[in-house]
Amino acid sequence: MGIVQPEDERFMAAAIRLARWHTGQTSTNPSVGCLIVRDGAIVGRAVTALGGRPHAEPQALAEAGELARSATAYVTLEPCSHHGKTPPCAEALIAYGVGRVVISVTDPDVRVSGRGIAMLRDAGIEVTTGVLEEEGRQSLAGYLTRQTKNRPYVTLKLAVSADGMIGREGVGQVAITGPEARAQVQALRAETDAILVGIGTAISDDPLLTVRTPGLEAQSPVRIVLDPALALPLTSKLVETAREVPVIVVASEEVSPLGAEEGLPPSALPGISPTRGEIGKRPTPSSPSSDSKVPASANLGQGAGPQPISPLVGEMSGRTEGGNTPTEPAEIDSRHTALEAAGVEVLYCNPYHPEVLLPALATRGISSLLVEGGAKTAKLFLETGLVDRIQLYQAPVVIGEGGIESPLQATDIPSGFAHRGTYIFGADRLDEYEREN
Ligand SMILES: NC(=O)c1ccc[n+]([C@@H]2O[C@H](COP(=O)([O-])OP(=O)(O)OC[C@H]3O[C@@H](n4cnc5c(N)ncnc54)[C@H](OP(=O)(O)O)[C@@H]3O)[C@@H](O)[C@H]2O)c1
Repeated sequence: MGIVQPEDERFMAAAIRLARWHTGQTSTNPSVGCLIVRDGAIVGRAVTALGGRPHAEPQALAEAGELARSATAYVTLEPCSHHGKTPPCAEALIAYGVGRVVISVTDPDVRVSGRGIAMLRDAGIEVTTGVLEEEGRQSLAGYLTRQTKNRPYVTLKLAVSADGMIGREGVGQVAITGPEARAQVQALRAETDAILVGIGTAISDDPLLTVRTPGLEAQSPVRIVLDPALALPLTSKLVETAREVPVIVVASEEVSPLGAEEGLPPSALPGISPTRGEIGKRPTPSSPSSDSKVPASANLGQGAGPQPISPLVGEMSGRTEGGNTPTEPAEIDSRHTALEAAGVEVLYCNPYHPEVLLPALATRGISSLLVEGGAKTAKLFLETGLVDRIQLYQAPVVIGEGGIESPLQATDIPSGFAHRGTYIFGADRLDEYEREN
């Protein structure tokens, strides 16, 4: 633990704020903040670079240069001790001659845990751990959940009307929250690796699920639809934009061309080195930039360049009418082919079992997942106990007749969740709850 100095919490709070700058943009590494402080002044500061490398410590040390000697380094996560794709950060701290290292969170990665600290102490550096640990853990939630639970950190977001509804039957998207709350949701999407909806929402709302905030467009999450029987319309906005921002359709193994027996569990997919969760980033042909948050294995392998989409019988645009569920094997096969030709990845993994799907997503480097509904999907995730955080927006709008009841109200938050705060956005109120482990 070491002796905590009076200024430690203040500098660690600043390091955590810095770490948050790149949350969701360093896949699959954690976004770590590092400050080098000498005689009470910050002489070096850095956050893990976009894409995950270089780590924060060498950048902050390079900025401090000679001033790092005998200085104190504040790091939100234990410095790495092994040779991964980058040299160990603990070695860099030793080489620059820092006198003290203050750490918020110890790394759960078994190859790092305690070893970075031991390396520093062996070199005669004073080490203090656990400073603002709760806040540090919050800032690293995706990484820590993926490392310790082998699944992404799951946030469930729901917008509920004054009469307890989340939408209205058969009318598509209904505006429940106002522009301020919607801007906040855009910011949440931007710091999340993947976003998930049920096919009911994909068909009725025809959502884009991207980040449209100017300047943050490249931070759109990978979009995932739970779609047991491949009913996602080819003319939906999701499919039409699949080459710009990846779309994964999770279909039931029963409709897999390989059959239920052979439907490939996605957890068998290759490609993850556990070094701070690093996987090599391989831009997709459609990636807007190498900074976009596309996990390497989400390179959907459909080949480069757009391909013609053959409209299927009964296919219509967007809303409910397009979502005819194919039932014949030949129709399902042709739907599969057409979706893939449009740039969509079809993943055969029982969509009703998030406990199987989530580890598969973690294997692909997805550390944080935003579940945006609808009612059935939210209920399933809550029932399987796979929600880490609930963001419940309550709006003054009244839906009335034909409303779809919310699976969750502020009055029936499941046990085990602690209320973390209330925030006001225009006329709407956001309550945040987090699972207490
Ligand atoms: N206010 C909000 O925050 C918000 C957010 C999103 C959506 N919505 C509204 O919610 C409505 C749609 O809700 P919904 O409940 O009908 O649709 P949904 O939850 O989006 O999708 C449910 C459909 O997905 C299938 N499904 C596949 N895997 C599933 C799984 N693991 N868990 C649950 N369902 C799964 C179900 O098939 P089976 O029926 O065959 O089981 C069902 O048809 C729309 O009106 C939309 O506007 C509101």
